[in-house]
Amino acid sequence: MKALVLVGGFGTRLRPLTLSVPKPLVDFANKPMILHQIEALKAVGVDEVVLAINYQPELMMSFLKEFETKLGIKITCSQETEPMGTAGPLALARSKLIDGSGRPFFVLNSDVISEYPLNQMIEFHAKHGGEASIMVTKVEDPSKYGVVVLDDDTGQVERFVEKPEMFVGNKINAGIYLLNPTVLDRIEVRPTSIEKEVFPEIAREKQLFAMVLPGFWMDVGQPKDYISGLSLYLDSLSRSCSDKLAKGSNIVGNVIIEESAEIGEDCLIGPDVAIGAGCVIEEGVRLSQCTIMRGARIQKHARVCGSIIGWMSSVGKWGRLENLTILGEDVHVWDEVYSNGGVILPHKEIKSSILNPSIVM
Ligand code: GDD
Ligand code: MG
Repeated sequence: MKALVLVGGFGTRLRPLTLSVPKPLVDFANKPMILHQIEALKAVGVDEVVLAINYQPELMMSFLKEFETKLGIKITCSQETEPMGTAGPLALARSKLIDGSGRPFFVLNSDVISEYPLNQMIEFHAKHGGEASIMVTKVEDPSKYGVVVLDDDTGQVERFVEKPEMFVGNKINAGIYLLNPTVLDRIEVRPTSIEKEVFPEIAREKQLFAMVLPGFWMDVGQPKDYISGLSLYLDSLSRSCSDKLAKGSNIVGNVIIEESAEIGEDCLIGPDVAIGAGCVIEEGVRLSQCTIMRGARIQKHARVCGSIIGWMSSVGKWGRLENLTILGEDVHVWDEVYSNGGVILPHKEIKSSILNPSIVM
């Protein structure tokens, strides 16, 4: 089976992290986002993942080369010379997606995190016999998504409305599709939107079916959603009794800590914290609802809450970072500095406090 992951876009909403790497390579729960997806695809028997890329393909491919062998899956790239939207890339990669077997292929948006119930999707697709299946999930504010109106008994999609201006329903497109090869006959090689041009047409022909996604879902393409997404992800690990969660008297709620990280005496860590490889968390540090990426150092008695600390950065003694403070790669915050929502670009030193949410260039 084949799969295509849409990895276009510049990830502007996840700056400053995306100033160092493309969005799919930003770590989420101690692992680049795209690896969560590739592993899930591999687990259901996908043997080739095509990355539909429109910029910096070299960076992505050189990083993923290592995982081709580690995971035993072929990873190839289909590069656009101009952004082709969310459907055009499928037409461009046509020869890679069709293997002559007539089997359906997966398509994934690259910025969503879920439990990826892909086996259930394969069963659902075989059962309804239509041309295309999509996963849907319920959200409170559907206006920033594609809204799907479906028959709750059969799953048949009646309408697909991308970014509706008026309320049509609260089930939204989760960005996970399983499509028959015939869908490719509907798409031309030109910039086009699967949500606006392809799905509404398949729905009109009663060939589009939607399955309500079991478990959690989050588009983690912006800091606030990234932080709540981590909490949902860790909660799902906890419900499956995963042994990846840290244990100990210094741990509160759900926390993951890479084995090579060092944790000092008298720290209190959690809930909803991810600590990456090689991090050093010194004595007496307090961490909650935050991600500390690979190689970062948090010095004695600092407190980090509701924030993301980028790769190789450091927070000085008695520092206090909160309210969506985001440090890019290699940022150094001096002792005793306070940050309320500071967004700091890579390779900076922060010597004085940031009292209100702002960007430091
Ligand atoms: N290769 C390629 N080329 N990929 C692209 C391009 C392009 O020109 N444009 C967007 N993408 C990729 C993005 O990287 C992302 O993985 C996916 O297509 C969707 O684009 P977004 O820009 O993230 O769209 P969105 O979040 O506003 O809406 C989409 O996702 C929602 C769920 O998160 C839609 O699919 C909605 O219907 C959906 O509800
Ligand atoms: Mg998105």
